[in-house]
Amino acid sequence: PRKIIIDTDPGQDDAVAILLALSSPEDIDVLGITAVAGNVPLPLTQKNARIVCELAGRTEMKVFAGCDRPLGRDLVTAEHVHGKTGLDGPNLPDPVMPLQDQHAVDYIIDTLRAEPAGTVTLCPLGPLTNIAMAFEKAPDIMDRVQEIVLMGGGYFEGGNITPAAEFNIYVDPQAAHIVFKSGVPIVVMPLDVTHKALVTKSRNDAFRAIGSDVGIAVAQMTDFFERFDKEKYGSEGAPLHDPCVTAYLIRPDLFKGRYINVEIETHSELTMGMTVADWWGVTDRPANALFIGDIDADGFFQLLTVRLARL
Ligand code: BDR
Ligand code: CA
Repeated sequence: PRKIIIDTDPGQDDAVAILLALSSPEDIDVLGITAVAGNVPLPLTQKNARIVCELAGRTEMKVFAGCDRPLGRDLVTAEHVHGKTGLDGPNLPDPVMPLQDQHAVDYIIDTLRAEPAGTVTLCPLGPLTNIAMAFEKAPDIMDRVQEIVLMGGGYFEGGNITPAAEFNIYVDPQAAHIVFKSGVPIVVMPLDVTHKALVTKSRNDAFRAIGSDVGIAVAQMTDFFERFDKEKYGSEGAPLHDPCVTAYLIRPDLFKGRYINVEIETHSELTMGMTVADWWGVTDRPANALFIGDIDADGFFQLLTVRLARL
């Protein structure tokens, strides 16, 4: 199994991504979960991460709190998507498992130094603040990262928080810039692919039909979040962004993309946080990311349903 650290701002779709990882020990070994401010402020994201671990019956999992704001900007949150708690939908009990004392950034640094070089994958599901902070504080760890598989950005699909920018990159463009310039191999799940992973009525029914606490909670979460996608855009269902990251670790064959250059806009207020993706290779800037554009959505939801049923 691949050793990973999940860096997250739960978030219903973050929750499903975490549950998929925890349900798949033959493919994924979750070393720890680090929380960052994003969809909702840090006190809620770290708490939600623990709620999700308890839902999965994994009270021994180590959860760390990280940065409570972006590197150089005020925090922008997304309660309009995720509800006031960040995990609206199901009624889950407050967690009793502890939050670790160590800061998430130090945990990331220590883990990358302790594990053999090239054996730990970082899976950011929120703004890239914790990861960028770790790289700035301990540049020696960059060489030790196996890969970064992240959800963020969008190119042909445009943005979901501004016309140009996707939420995770927009919240901390400076952090994203640091990560995309790091030289670490990166796989990006942008809106171009996640908007093809829609929780239709029948896919939601399949989660509910699992019948377990996890299955029912996932059905309630995926029914709640991004409701406005259905109302405003007449979409068939909410896009399940973050689980694309953990599904990729299990079944990379479900995804298709191109190795290209991706740069982050950090200056213009109009296009702040835009991922400028050289999809057509019109520059000679070196490729720094595998930018995913397509998914076998039926295969993805089948994988999710089968794996979640194990919990
Ligand atoms: C991303 O933003 C968050 O609201 C979701 O959890 C996902 O990580 C999608 O733009
Ligand atoms: Ca997220």
